[in-house]
Amino acid sequence: MRAKITGTGSYLPPHVLTNHDIEQMVDTTDEWIVERTGIKERRVADPHTYTSDLAVEAGKRALKAAGLKPKDIDIIIVATVTGDMPLPSTACFVQAKLKAKKAAAFDINAACSGFTFGLSIANAYICSGMAKRVLLIGSEELSRITDWEDRATCVLLGDGAGAVVVEASDDDTGIWSVDIFSDGTIWDLLNVPAGGSANPASEETVKSGQHYLKMKGNETFKIAVRTLEQVVVDTLKKNNLQSSQIALLVPHQANKRIIEATAKRLNMSMDRVVLNLHKYGNTSAASIPIALDEAVKQGRIRKGDFIMLESFGGGLTWASALIKW
Ligand code: COA
Repeated sequence: MRAKITGTGSYLPPHVLTNHDIEQMVDTTDEWIVERTGIKERRVADPHTYTSDLAVEAGKRALKAAGLKPKDIDIIIVATVTGDMPLPSTACFVQAKLKAKKAAAFDINAACSGFTFGLSIANAYICSGMAKRVLLIGSEELSRITDWEDRATCVLLGDGAGAVVVEASDDDTGIWSVDIFSDGTIWDLLNVPAGGSANPASEETVKSGQHYLKMKGNETFKIAVRTLEQVVVDTLKKNNLQSSQIALLVPHQANKRIIEATAKRLNMSMDRVVLNLHKYGNTSAASIPIALDEAVKQGRIRKGDFIMLESFGGGLTWASALIKW
């Protein structure tokens, strides 16, 4: 039995924050940001719109595309590092707001690899017969954990949500493989130091900005390039495919240079790569499902095409998925 994506959807909050806006906030330039990252602007949710609200909009759109109603869903998984609250899960808020009464709902945290990790869970539920219909959503409000005085990170991040419906496939289309990996020994490359059991919220943690995302950008960059190249090559080998057979690469949207390096390693021209980070920046677990939804809407994926998803993020975590559409 194979699982397949039967509907996609995405939602971006309307407010646009451009590089020129950020020039007014920290010592940076539009030119530097575009050259080093490829990002031109990002979206920022207003204070009354929560991660679950973005997730609900993306989820509704994916359900509509799949021709389903919320009541049809067995499991809701939300991949996020910026949930509405530490407890309960954001997926439970989504379940309530969608009125998906039958669905069990839970969150997962694999940082920017959250969607791909979530896809492996959805795949396992469907292939084991434990569920018939899974709604998987990547939703983030990274603006809430962004230090708007840190030029090395604030230029990179954005808010948004993307969703897919996963159901059983009755032919050879669907998820051919999802490979997920972690290395917790290098957790310190990307983290939010405070707000958990190691460093609970206190006046001091707030004063010292420990609730903001911290990143060793340069080290992360190098490991990302190396790891992503390897994971996609291994996935192709495992499935006896050549990169020339991949119609579209749908990478996590962190940095244009990282994406270009992977495409080059695969000998894929950039017209076979989905790139939308100039509009949204890095939206962590939301970036792949947003990119996938845009590619579907733009008619860039046809039935029978092989597509490759690949992601990399805090943890560290990295993953790939090979899908026959
Ligand atoms: N504007 C202007 N200058 C900036 C800047 C900004 N927004 N951010 C950093 N700089 C400066 C640094 O202070 C440094 O100055 P110095 O040489 O005087 O010390 C210089 O630019 C180079 O910094 P460095 O961090 O080495 O730059 P880089 O080429 O590695 O680019 C990133 C920085 C963050 C764009 C890049 O490292 C990156 O994209 N890393 C991966 C991030 C990522 O993908 N994370 C998410 C994984 S899911």
